[in-house]
Amino acid sequence: MNHILSASQFNKGLIYKILLSAKKMETALNKGRVTKKLHDKIVACLFFEPSTRTRLSFETAVLRLGGQVIGMENGSVSSSAFKGESIPDTIKIVHGFADLIVMRHPQNGSAEVAAKTSKVPIINAGDGGNEHPTQSLLDLYTIKQETGRLENLTFTMVGDLLYGRTIHSTLTMLSLYPKNKFIFVAPKQLKLPEKYKAMLKNRKVSFKETENLAEGLKFADVIYMTRVQKERFSSKAEYEKLKLAYVFDAESLKQIKKSAVILHALPRVGEIAEVVDKDPRAAYFRQAQNGLYVRMALLQYALGLM
Ligand code: CP
Repeated sequence: MNHILSASQFNKGLIYKILLSAKKMETALNKGRVTKKLHDKIVACLFFEPSTRTRLSFETAVLRLGGQVIGMENGSVSSSAFKGESIPDTIKIVHGFADLIVMRHPQNGSAEVAAKTSKVPIINAGDGGNEHPTQSLLDLYTIKQETGRLENLTFTMVGDLLYGRTIHSTLTMLSLYPKNKFIFVAPKQLKLPEKYKAMLKNRKVSFKETENLAEGLKFADVIYMTRVQKERFSSKAEYEKLKLAYVFDAESLKQIKKSAVILHALPRVGEIAEVVDKDPRAAYFRQAQNGLYVRMALLQYALGLM
């Protein structure tokens, strides 16, 4: 079964295959000629945490491919999880109804737990502050579209690198490609976890850490801004102190390369000023749109239809 649980399960060959399929999906959608490969499939979208882009792009992807969707958008309160049902018990029910399960859950490692029980493929749509592998594939698709390559790039990743699951998954994939470098800009409370730094050292990938945004911006080919993840903080006061530690604004635009690309998984809550949106280097809304094409490809991969 092709579960999609972690960025670490992807090698360059598989990433290439998925990005190529996503490009075909984009072209087919633009021409109005999508093959209904999921015509006999039901996909369950189980969301125990809020989502706009991930849930709706997965659901749109299923519908565009001719499949049908069941699910929950507010599972922590609207499903029997509210009464205390465990993840394995929920999966034991849903895998009897659906051909594939897309799940977002606040618990780190929840997708692995679900996959251990499931008789159908599980796609991790975000497990706590751990990983978000499908976001990373759409990030790579966007980087390739915007820069023409996935190697020999300097990435400046900014903000909540501790809880930012997108960062964990995306840097895991990007560090597979030669000559990529990383600059991590974060307050000391939100630094990248040690295990990712150990992975980079093991792969002999160059990186540096700084608290100075300007230092990170000037060398970047790709700037990846993040939201400080309010929902992971136990102290509201600590969140308030850190939430706007870094803001990318009109001044920041003057500091970056003419060829730079600005990404953000979204939603943003102040860390990119709206004035930045009209700059052609701001790619974050194109990035979100690419999620549809990449998830159309991933559904087919997970179901063995690619
Ligand atoms: N990027 C992302 O995961 O957005 P949502 O939380 O809206 O799904």
